[in-house]
Amino acid sequence: MRKNIVAGNWKMNTTVPEGVELAKAVVAASAQVPAEVELVIGTPFTHLYPVNEVVKGTRVALSAENCADHAKGAYTGEISVDMLTSVGCQYTILGHSERRQYYGETDEKLVEKIKLALAAGLKVIFCIGENLEEREAEKHFAVCEAQTVNVLKNFTAEDMKNIVIAYEPVWAIGTGKTATADQAEEIHAFVRKVLADMFGAQVADDTTILYGGSCKPSNAKELFAKPDIDGGLIGGAALKAEDFIGIALAF
Ligand code: 13P
Repeated sequence: MRKNIVAGNWKMNTTVPEGVELAKAVVAASAQVPAEVELVIGTPFTHLYPVNEVVKGTRVALSAENCADHAKGAYTGEISVDMLTSVGCQYTILGHSERRQYYGETDEKLVEKIKLALAAGLKVIFCIGENLEEREAEKHFAVCEAQTVNVLKNFTAEDMKNIVIAYEPVWAIGTGKTATADQAEEIHAFVRKVLADMFGAQVADDTTILYGGSCKPSNAKELFAKPDIDGGLIGGAALKAEDFIGIALAF
C-alpha cells in the first residue's frame, strides 16, 4: 500500500537560524500526527546540515529542493547527491515548476538528476503540472502525461519504489487559488492510469501522488479525502509549523 506523505518545500525562505527554529517547532508538533503519515521538510541547501541536527532520530525526514545533474567535479555552485546524503538528506525534490520555468530544468536534465539521486539512495519527489495557459487551452492532461512519460520512461518499476510524484498546477502555486479537490483528483487518477500503462497496476497503486498549490489546513481535508490524493507538497503553509502540522492532521 502507498504511503501518505506531507512534505514541506520551504523554497528560498528563512535564514538558517529561522529554519532551525521552524524545524524544531515541526518536530515538537509532529507527535500529534498519526504515525502512518510521513512528514518531510525540504529546505535550502545551507539549512540541511543544521536542520538535520534537529530532525535526525525523529519521524521528520529531510529533503533538498534540487541537486546537480553531474556526480562531482568542476561545476561551480552546484550541489551533488553525495553532498546531500552526507548531511542526512533522505529526499530531494526535482522538477519543481519554478526550476523548470526560471532555471531551464529540462526533461533530459531531470532524467540525469533522478538517476544520480536514486543511485545515491535518495528518494525523489518528482514534480509535474500545467501552467494557466495550458489549463485554459484544456491541455492539462496532455501536459501532465508528457511530463510523466518523458522522464519516467527512463526508469524501472523497482526505481518507482523511491519516486513520489507531486502534481502542482502552476496556476495554484503561491496564488491562494487551490485546484478544487475534483480538479486535483481527476489529474491524480489520470497520472495513476499513465503509471499503470507504463509499469503495471501494482506500481501505479503503490506510488504516492501528492498535490501541491495553495494547500492549507482549511482545504487539506477535502483534498486528502480523494482516493488518489496521497498527501501534499506544501509551500507557503510549510513556513509555519502550526499550519504544516495542521495539514498533516487532515488525514
Ligand atoms: P504554495 O503552497 O505556496 O502554493 O506552494 C506550493 C509549492 O510549490 C510546493 O512545492
